[in-house]
Order: sequence, then structure tokens, then C-alpha cells
Amino acid sequence: MKEVQTVGVVGFGVMGAAIGLNAAMSGYRVIYKELNDELVQAMFEKGVAKPLGKRVAKGKMTQAEMDEIAGRITGTSSYADLAPCDLVIEAAIEKMDLKIQVFADLAAACREDAILVSNTSTFLIEKLMAKVSNPARTAGLHYFFPANVNRLVEVIRQRQTSDETYEALMEFARRNRKVPITVKDFPGFAINPVFISSYLILDSFYGDRFNAATLEKLSQEALGVKFGIMWVQNGSGIGTCYHAGVSMIDYLADTDIGYPPMPASLEEKFKAGESWNLEDGPVLADEEAGREVKDRLLGGIFSISTHLIEKEVVSAADLELGIKTALAWPRGPFTMMNDLGMAEVQRLVQLAADAGDFKLPRKFREGDLTLWQL
Ligand SMILES: NC(=O)c1ccc[n+]([C@@H]2O[C@H](COP(=O)([O-])OP(=O)(O)OC[C@H]3O[C@@H](n4cnc5c(N)ncnc54)[C@H](O)[C@@H]3O)[C@@H](O)[C@H]2O)c1
Repeated sequence: MKEVQTVGVVGFGVMGAAIGLNAAMSGYRVIYKELNDELVQAMFEKGVAKPLGKRVAKGKMTQAEMDEIAGRITGTSSYADLAPCDLVIEAAIEKMDLKIQVFADLAAACREDAILVSNTSTFLIEKLMAKVSNPARTAGLHYFFPANVNRLVEVIRQRQTSDETYEALMEFARRNRKVPITVKDFPGFAINPVFISSYLILDSFYGDRFNAATLEKLSQEALGVKFGIMWVQNGSGIGTCYHAGVSMIDYLADTDIGYPPMPASLEEKFKAGESWNLEDGPVLADEEAGREVKDRLLGGIFSISTHLIEKEVVSAADLELGIKTALAWPRGPFTMMNDLGMAEVQRLVQLAADAGDFKLPRKFREGDLTLWQL
């Protein structure tokens, strides 16, 4: 297996900083690449020195340990300095053309066998690697915000990713104390298609009958979570949620999977630059009305989760683990379905199909009510 010792990180922003720091704290040498030396210096202060300094101040780490970790980190504005890297993780801004060019530059600057991966959230890995020689060494490594806390990493195998590359990335993720799951190169990969559809459906109910406080409460109850889906949207940023929704709809709405349309409410919030006000009045007490929302929410989650299995994007066990790890749901979709009973699940996925959220997955078209094996 390829052994990774030195890791390059392109883009020293929110995600790149945390990904690199995590690797340095796990014993890897890390070289950050930014656009210019001023940014390298500023981001080192903000993304490395400050968080490590806080740990020392809190007594979670000694000054000597901090110095050792910081000593494994360097920064540059030149691709040529990434030549010693065994693995380079691209975490630059989410622009397709820019990323394709970054990978062309990396292919020219790095060893022919250096593993090249992207942390993109929305682009297909295969497209980003169009100009890379030896694409068997390319893949996706999708971290979740905040990357220093969230333990899930999706290891994305594109069609050409070799077993050797995949194994090296799984080992890298484990040595970073992450929880890796194996995912095929698919729009949004595995977790985001589920999460994004859940807020598109929930937000579509926003209006006279359901305020944000009610929808937050209903999502907490439906999923058994402390922080509901309205709260998580605010945390992720309404702009990010809107763009991610547009992207998933573009990819999937006209396929045999389908995707819920963009709700006017989310588009309006985005255009107004506002977040959801989670204290916008009393929570609706009408249980029957609440049931309608929860049924549609769960019907959508069960539909897309089943589609992802039928398209062989991810295994049921990995999607279950991934949802629990990344989104902190106490139960993943398959345990929820098994617990509810498949006759009820069939009713809910049919509701999702009737509402136009998703096409009916094959399993339910065929009336197959066997429980999920995890
Ligand atoms: N923020 C999230 O929640 C999240 C979660 C998962 C994945 N992602 C993905 O991670 C990537 C980075 O997101 P972010 O939120 O950290 O963005 P960010 O804007 O905080 O950081 C991006 C950085 O890349 C730098 N950059 C741009 N072009 C570069 C180049 N050619 N060479 C070197 N550096 C360059 C920018 O100067 C900036 O500092 C995106 O692809 C995003 O989709 C983000």
C-alpha cells in the first residue's frame, strides 16, 4: 500500500485549515498552499496558531506539543513546493474551472504517483480530474463542517480510482481518527443528497400555517435530534444551503431518482440574506398538521436513501453510519425504516412520490417489504 507521510492542502480556508491541522496533529507533515504569501501567513495565525494556542491555554496540550505540531506545518504560494507530497487534498473555493486547473497544476508539480483528491461538495470527481495524468491515483475525500470536530469522511471512488489509492485513503482517514465510509462518485455523494432533500421538503411547508419554530420542532421530533433541520441550515449558512439545493436539483430532478423542487421560502431567505428565525412565534399545536409535515419529511429521507442503495452509491451499513456520524441523528434511515415497519414506510415513500419529491424506488414499486439488512 502507498504510505502517506507528507500531505499538501490547497486552499488554507475554513475547511483546508482544519483538514491540515487534523493531519498534523495525527503525525503527518503538512504543506499548505495558498494564493499568496500574505494569505499563507494570515491563515497560519488564524487556522493553526490560534486554535493550538487555545488548547495550550486550556491545558489540553503542552506548549512543547504545540511546537511539535506547528513544526510539522509549512506554507507556500508555489505549487513547486508540493513536490514532496504523497497526498494532496484540494480545498480551494467551489468553482469547477478553478479546480480543474488546480489539478492540472498539481499533476505537473507532484510525483506521478502522488495521490490527488478533492474536498468538493458538489462536483463529480471524475470531471475535476480531467487533466490529470494517471487518474488511478485520484479520488474524493469529503470532510464535513466543522472538519476538526465532525468525524465523518466520505472516501469517493471515481470510476478510475485504483484499489491502492482507495486503501491508502481509508488508512489515512483512520489515522486521522476519522470515520471513513466508501462512496461512489455521485452528485453530492451519499450524505448530502439525504440532508439537502430533507431541508428542501421541510422549508416547502414554511408559511402561514408553519413558522420556522414549528418546523424546527417537528424535525426534532421526527428525527429524534436535539438540533433540528432549521437550526442546522442556519449553522451551515442559508447561502450554502440554497446553492447546494440548486446543484442537487440540476443533477437529479430529471432522472429516475427525482429531487424535491426549490421552495420559494428558502430562495427568499437567501435573496434577503436572512437566516431562519427560530423564535418566530408560538409552535403550532395541531398534531394532525404536524403529522403531515413529518410524514413528508420521512418519506423523502426514506426514498432518497433507498435510491442511493439501488444505484450502488453506498452500502446501507455505511449510509446508516455516515448519517449518524455526520448529522448526529440517533438512528440512521434504515434503522428508522425497520423500526417503523415496511408497510408504513411504503405509505410514506408513496406520499413522497405523490408530492413529486422523489420517484418511487424499485424496492417499493415491487412492493418488497423485507426489512433492511445492516
Ligand atoms: N464549508 C463547508 O461547510 C464545506 C464542507 C465540505 C466541503 N466543502 C468544500 O471545501 C472547499 C473549501 O471550502 P471552504 O468553506 O473552506 O472555503 P474558503 O473560502 O474558506 O477557503 C477557500 C480557500 O481557497 C483559497 N484558494 C482559492 N484558489 C486557490 C488556489 N489556486 N491555490 C490555493 N488556494 C486557493 C482561497 O484563497 C481560500 O482561502 C470547497 O470546495 C467546498 O465546497 C466545504
